[in-house]
Amino acid sequence: MAGAELIGKEEIKEVMDVLNTGVLMRYGFDKERKGIFKVREFEEAFARYCGSKYALGVTSGSSALKVALTAMDVGPGDEVICPAFTFVATYEAVLEVGAIPVMADIDESLNLDYKDVESKITTLTKAVIPVHICGAPARIDKIIETARKHKILVLEDNAQACGGSYHGKKLGSFGDMGIFSFDYYKTITTGEGGMILTDSENLYRRADWYHDHGHDHNPNVTRAMEGRTILGFNYRMNELQGALGLAQLRKLPIVIREQKKNKEMLKEILVKIKGLKFRDIPDPAGDTATFLAFNLPEAKTAENLQKALSAEGIDTVCFKKNLWHYVPNWEHFLANSTANSQKYPFADPSYRGKVDYNRESIPHAEDILGRTLMMGIPVKMPEEKFTEIRRGIEKVARRI
Ligand SMILES: Cc1ncc(COP(=O)(O)O)c(C=O)c1O
Repeated sequence: MAGAELIGKEEIKEVMDVLNTGVLMRYGFDKERKGIFKVREFEEAFARYCGSKYALGVTSGSSALKVALTAMDVGPGDEVICPAFTFVATYEAVLEVGAIPVMADIDESLNLDYKDVESKITTLTKAVIPVHICGAPARIDKIIETARKHKILVLEDNAQACGGSYHGKKLGSFGDMGIFSFDYYKTITTGEGGMILTDSENLYRRADWYHDHGHDHNPNVTRAMEGRTILGFNYRMNELQGALGLAQLRKLPIVIREQKKNKEMLKEILVKIKGLKFRDIPDPAGDTATFLAFNLPEAKTAENLQKALSAEGIDTVCFKKNLWHYVPNWEHFLANSTANSQKYPFADPSYRGKVDYNRESIPHAEDILGRTLMMGIPVKMPEEKFTEIRRGIEKVARRI
């Protein structure tokens, strides 16, 4: 549960600052807000923390993906390469802007395989979305290198690894744009919320305009008199989310430190299970440790282990069977059942390509995800809880 576990007086104080002014909107009401600009402050602190020039707060990680893709001018006729293992929002966002998601395989790190990205590039490819899945970095340097070589854009989906890094540089700051989610499950939370990062002034401006009906946010005029260049929509973050984000961001180093400590403790016990191998993490120092993933030589042994752990009250997830994080399991997606009755954009004549979402095209995901189990790592793990888990794992290790 990460940041949500630490909600306390710091969040209450930040939220009360907003409630005391009564101004819940991030823009306008300059007199009434008495100098309180929580979303703006959160954006500035977040950009600083990640080492990026610009940050834009939005309503969710899903809307962050959509706003970023729109700013990058991804649209009808375009293809966007995404990993087979991700939350459905990554694919939905591509469809939301009228483009077609192309499924690519994962590597030993369970993240997008840059070699498969190369094989999926066509003349229609406009962008690639690497996802730093389950808290740990993808081989983002190789993915960027591949994208640059083929002149395609990179949007990092860092919804699941906020605060993570790759060789010292923060995840989300590598691509042309990066996005984050602050929903209730995430490393830091604002209830619902998201953030977009970029170093490009042009991409930032386009995202900023689009997320607020085209408003140019000219500080020298009132909101009603602001200019506009493009049409947009409403994906504005509100002041209560900004307030929560500020308090949570300050706690992010604690969240990661505690999760890492707990993960190491669990690894020391799990290692006793015969044949067990931990997930390959390209830069372990940059792991946020929200999850602990391990695999076994065979899918059947993994299934037996999962059952044995469950009998001891220890929950694990096999993502190959998960309904929301693995493309071959999305029957509505495979049937092209978008919210549009004409199956837009799959059936749109502007799309000249042909996509294939067959399991055979992602052999590595099919193999490794079926043999991999994941445990969520809590920020707080009381001694009694740890002892209980240790006893359970040791009992299973003796039997398997
Ligand atoms: C990889 C990934 N991308 C995007 C999202 C969407 O974020 P949100 O729930 O804030 O819309 C999620 C949420 O779980 C996610 O895991």
